[in-house]
Amino acid sequence: ADSPPAAVREDPMTTTLITNISALVTNDPAREGDSPLGTVESAAVVIEGEHIVWTGRAQDAPAADTVHDAAGRAAVPGFVDSHSHLVFAGDRTAEFNARMSGAPYRAGGIRTTVAATRAASDAELEAGLTRYLDEALRQGTTVMETKSGYGLTVADEARALELAARHTDEVTYLGAHVVAPEYADDPGGYVDLVTGPMLDACAPHARWVDVFCERGAFDGDQARAVLTAGIAKGLTPRVHANQLGHGPGVRLAVELGAASADHCTHLTDADIDALAGGDTVATLLPGAEFSTRAPWPDARRLLDAGVTVALSTDCNPGSSFTSSMPFCIALAVRDMGMTPHEALWAATAGGARALRRTDVGRIAPGSRADLVLLDAPSPVHLAYRPGVPLVTDVWRRGVKEK
Ligand code: NIG
Ligand code: FE
Repeated sequence: ADSPPAAVREDPMTTTLITNISALVTNDPAREGDSPLGTVESAAVVIEGEHIVWTGRAQDAPAADTVHDAAGRAAVPGFVDSHSHLVFAGDRTAEFNARMSGAPYRAGGIRTTVAATRAASDAELEAGLTRYLDEALRQGTTVMETKSGYGLTVADEARALELAARHTDEVTYLGAHVVAPEYADDPGGYVDLVTGPMLDACAPHARWVDVFCERGAFDGDQARAVLTAGIAKGLTPRVHANQLGHGPGVRLAVELGAASADHCTHLTDADIDALAGGDTVATLLPGAEFSTRAPWPDARRLLDAGVTVALSTDCNPGSSFTSSMPFCIALAVRDMGMTPHEALWAATAGGARALRRTDVGRIAPGSRADLVLLDAPSPVHLAYRPGVPLVTDVWRRGVKEK
């Protein structure tokens, strides 16, 4: 065969050296030492193309094509937000207002967003999705999972996933968010739809299957049916579990080998034991407790039991309308018993674990070049300076996005 033209054959990837980093959080298992953060002081990083190729002390850094001076800022891996619901239309300001005057949060509020989402055009839904993805990126989130769940018909769920798949690899089928209004008197019929024709239409666009296992949504048997049907179609399970009260969600998630049990607000000792004995990450979503005035999940109890904990935003118009991982880190530290270092790990490496990824959530040779600079000398400032926009620079796949 003809050899390709020289420009294609050689095309050397350009390298970028980011130097003068005060503290570099690597989450690199090879650097773990005393802390899983594997922090390097007075550090530098070299990016080649989409990947990290070198990390270490600035004084030892190799030469590169371009140099970026971090000017003494701290650097952390891009945040991995493993739980959001970004394909929706409308908002629920009035519902939030009522809650802040004492009204309780109810899963049934989801149906308000379902009506608005069904009525929206594809272009409107995609514009909303990209708006929130960009908003998150500017706050340092370089990987974002997102779900369907505001369509609840075959066509509306499939279009939500198709739109999501244009913008992220981490797409989750959540046809089982609540029973669709058309099936209010026939929840079993809705489960048949979700595990049958809707799954057939949605599975090609998704990596994950999820179910809201909760009183007012789906019980343990229904959740099992949804998850096992998804598994049979090649999807991997993750579960909305134990958000509003005790229930079978967490134990079901562990039993079925789910990547993550999300929320974990109301846990018994048996739930904790199940998580500690399995491979399922506990993903905590403090934006939801903030925004529903619910009790905080007890991260300390999970960590002390040896459970892997992730932090995510749950960004959605009903229970948690924040796209900010730094905000969630600050809440987790203040109100959930996490140290600043534990919360940072949970928001980066923990999220990667919840998505079964090893290429993100860390800054290590071979990993994706997803990196954030903070206008702070230490990553502890993410919790120490809550609400302050500390994220100054963001690289994703080696491209400087901010
Ligand atoms: O994760 N828990 C179920 N789903 C969302 C809430 C969705 C909504 O209220 O619109 C959650 O909190
Ligand atoms: Fe959620």
